Amino acid sequence: MNKSILSLGLLLVNIAIGQKTTEQKIDDLLLKMTLEEKIGQLNQYTNDANPTGPLVINPNKEKEIKEGKLGSMLNVMGADRTRKYQELAMQSRLKIPLLFGLDVIHGYKITFPLPLAEAASWDLPLIEQSARIAATEAAASGVHWTFAPMVDIARDPRWGRVMEGAGEDTFLGSKIAYARVKGFQGNKLGDLNSVMACAKHFVGYGAAVGGRDYNSVDMSNRMLWETYLPPFKASVDAGVATFMNSFNDLNGIPATANAYIQRDILKGKWKYDGFIVSDWGSIGEMVAHGYAKDNKEAAEKAILAGNDMDMESNAYRYHLAELVKEGKVPMSIVDEAVRRILRKKFELGLFDNPYRFSDAKRQEKALNNPEHAKVAREIAAKSIVLLKNEQNVLPLSKDTKTIAFIGPMVKPKRNNHGFWSIDLKDVDSTYIVSQWEGLERKVGKNTKLLYAKGCDIEGNNRSGFEEAIAIAKQSDVVIVSIGERHDMSGEAKSRSNIHLPGIQEEFIQELQKTGKPIVVLINAGRPLIFNWIADNMPTIVYTWWLGSEAGNAIADVLFGDYNPSGKLPMTFPRDEGQIPLYYNHFSTGRPSKDDNDKIYKSAYIDLPNSAKFPFGFGLSYTTFTYNDLKLSAPSLTSKGSITVSFTLTNSGKYAGEEVVQLYLKDPFASVVRPIKELKGFQKVKLNPGEQKTITFTVDNELLSFYNDQLEWVSEPGAFELMLGSSSEDIRLHATFELVK
Ligand code: BGC
Repeated sequence: MNKSILSLGLLLVNIAIGQKTTEQKIDDLLLKMTLEEKIGQLNQYTNDANPTGPLVINPNKEKEIKEGKLGSMLNVMGADRTRKYQELAMQSRLKIPLLFGLDVIHGYKITFPLPLAEAASWDLPLIEQSARIAATEAAASGVHWTFAPMVDIARDPRWGRVMEGAGEDTFLGSKIAYARVKGFQGNKLGDLNSVMACAKHFVGYGAAVGGRDYNSVDMSNRMLWETYLPPFKASVDAGVATFMNSFNDLNGIPATANAYIQRDILKGKWKYDGFIVSDWGSIGEMVAHGYAKDNKEAAEKAILAGNDMDMESNAYRYHLAELVKEGKVPMSIVDEAVRRILRKKFELGLFDNPYRFSDAKRQEKALNNPEHAKVAREIAAKSIVLLKNEQNVLPLSKDTKTIAFIGPMVKPKRNNHGFWSIDLKDVDSTYIVSQWEGLERKVGKNTKLLYAKGCDIEGNNRSGFEEAIAIAKQSDVVIVSIGERHDMSGEAKSRSNIHLPGIQEEFIQELQKTGKPIVVLINAGRPLIFNWIADNMPTIVYTWWLGSEAGNAIADVLFGDYNPSGKLPMTFPRDEGQIPLYYNHFSTGRPSKDDNDKIYKSAYIDLPNSAKFPFGFGLSYTTFTYNDLKLSAPSLTSKGSITVSFTLTNSGKYAGEEVVQLYLKDPFASVVRPIKELKGFQKVKLNPGEQKTITFTVDNELLSFYNDQLEWVSEPGAFELMLGSSSEDIRLHATFELVK
């Protein structure tokens, strides 16, 4: 049912039975609130014990809560701790409950793969389910609100936060944003297993110049609308309760005080009724940006531009009352921000029972549910990307006599959690299956497992090489696990050099000399560069950071209990000099037709243009063939559609899943268009020899784009359609026409 009809219906029912609507209750409350109490609702402080940004201790926090001067806290978790703070709020004059927010980015107690890794599964129902489980655990632990999903499109792997999003593609990113919001929020806000989601960082944060965190962003409005805004719009469509703005300036205006994005687009055009929280200290940081002369002016600019809640800047706390008294900020603007926040508190049911999420018994049950680990294992296996399997070394036999499992990632546990995992104080958060444990559990009694660390992740200590090589020589197969440490990708973890750190590549070169079959596992939070390995090692598995069940999931894939189906959600470059490198770039006037075509072409004289591993790429233990493409008609009108169908066959020996990808190209338009764009995908499971007819519908919406006037239009003419197994591995082509 249409949302406004539903609200009208509820309003009429409420009037009939004499009950007040939420908006009427907010009206009543606003009438009772002093200016200081209103401003209190707009303040958010961290718990000092585990800050997630530069901390300024406020010794008066507890007193301020009792005085009704604080609306929300972050980094407070656990049924008992949240209850303790809520009890303070219940001593305040109006007893307005606190909201507790936390970065539940990829799981709460059970950690799931990094969001970027999960995106490699292209499995929307499972991505939704992982967010659902994270919400169930967090909500039982007193958390009302997660600062997730991060829906920033990211085309620069130097940026450490690529690990937190869904990669470079707007179509895939929007579908995943929708699934994650639905997963976190469940059926409706107020259910005891739902948390409010937060679409962040609004907007452009992923396009920071040079991939350096917090850096400036300069982009055309057409790029903003076409590439960066759609995942945020998808979040709104999914009903996301909150938004977070971003640290960057966007075309010279810090996002935090950007009225165009917050007031005109989000609250205006998209009619968004949730609230916007600043990023950590981002109001105050406008002074460093040189956009406000002091914290007071920063507060004024932020609230006027639509930023509702102040996370950790203390700008509203110290200056808003004065700004209102001076007439610089109208009371109506303050009331609007307070209304948006109170609305969510009502929707969560906190006015009925402020402790409803802080329930130690429910917490105990939710945090010890074995079903959660099962799902984590499934999605971890589905997130793994098989990059090479040239000699079919994989899958391994469980009867292999001796396996050497070597490398700095084999035994440590913490790394598998990845960045943004939660350090739970009240509950056991050490549940992680190490890669070693996963393998140990998988192999039969007759298999001997040998271990050596070999080398560190960083540094140049070669003293472990000898032992590792000796062990490799005694084995039938060598598995070597290398990569980035968990804290080398994440917030403020930009790297100018994204090659494999340390001497790990050199270590593999030494191991290769043993002549043994070697499986290379690469663990990382971003696309890394490892050209020697990519060119010389026949078997490579990209495992990202997979969370609590990493060890089991990796073993499932290595031994064929799960046939890998992951596809890269980001392009892997050959060299940092190519960055930003993404598949859906614009056509140039001098395109080079291949990597050798360089003379007076848009090319590098010292590097190929192509990716090392392209967007959408990933192998399986089986093979898939694409045949028999049919279009229901050679043309469509802007009101019509074309059905595209073809036969997908599992032509190999193993059951497996293929992510079938549909790309479209608009060869001529009133503005330059990308060389191809993902416009559909399906994850299809087939047994060996099995065939299936796969169908897509192409309609006007898929052919539309933002023209020079920022109008969403389609233009008549020919279109190219491509179906394939990656953005580069196109198996079927067709053309069709849009007629007006
Ligand atoms: C990050 C946000 C995060 C916030 C609270 C900031 O530094 O940019 O994504 O939600 O801290 O932890």
